[in-house]
Amino acid sequence: MTFTVDDIFNAGTVIPVLAYQSIEEALVTSDTLYQAGIRVFEITLRHETALEGINAVAKALPKDAMIGAGTIMNATDLNKARDAGAGFGISPGLTRDLAIAIQNTGLPFLPGTATLSEAMMASDLGFKALKFFPASVSGGAPYLKAAGAVLPSIQFCPTGGINMQNKEDYLALSNVPVVGGSWIVVRGADGAIDQEQTYKNAVAVAKNKS
Ligand code: 3PG
Repeated sequence: MTFTVDDIFNAGTVIPVLAYQSIEEALVTSDTLYQAGIRVFEITLRHETALEGINAVAKALPKDAMIGAGTIMNATDLNKARDAGAGFGISPGLTRDLAIAIQNTGLPFLPGTATLSEAMMASDLGFKALKFFPASVSGGAPYLKAAGAVLPSIQFCPTGGINMQNKEDYLALSNVPVVGGSWIVVRGADGAIDQEQTYKNAVAVAKNKS
C-alpha cells in the first residue's frame, strides 16, 4: 500500500510506539492492535529482531495497515527498514545525511525535532510534518502552541511522555493532528505484553474498529 504522511495523520489520533522484543510478540500484538482499530504501527529499531518483525507484520496484516520503522538514526537504518517492508519512517532527530537518504527513498517520514531552529532547518529541507521529541521535557503542549504561532505550516507529532491523560492537551492544538506513545502497549510484571489491556487502550484511541 502506498500512502502519505497525511494518510498517517488521518488514520487515528495516536501512533503506537512499539518496542517489540521478538517476532512472535510483534505478530501477536500488532494483530491485537489492528483488531482494536489501529492502522498505523511504528515498530522501533531497538531490538535485534525489529527488522524481521517489520517484515513479518507487514506481510501478516491487511493492506490498510501502515507499518513503519521508528528510531531510525541514519541512512543505513532507513534503507534496511525500507527493504524489510516499512512504508514510513520516524527518527528521534535529523542529520543532513539522513535527510538526503529520506529524499532518496521517497518514504513518508517524520524527522524528530525539539527546538524551533531544528524545525526551521527541517522545514528548509522540505519536511513539513515533524516528530516533536522528547515532547514532555522539551516544553510540552505550551511549547507547540507557541511554535504554531511562528511556524503555522508545520505539523507536529509529539512523542515522549504522552499518555492517555495528557494527550488531549496536545491534540487540542491546531498543529498537532496526532501524538505518539508507547503506553498503548502494556507489559505485565513478568515482562510479557498484556494483550487484553493493550486491546482496551488501543480501542480507546482508535478510529476504526474492525
Ligand atoms: C519514542 O521512541 O518515540 C519514545 O521513546 C516514546 O516515548 P514514550 O515511551 O514516553 O511514549
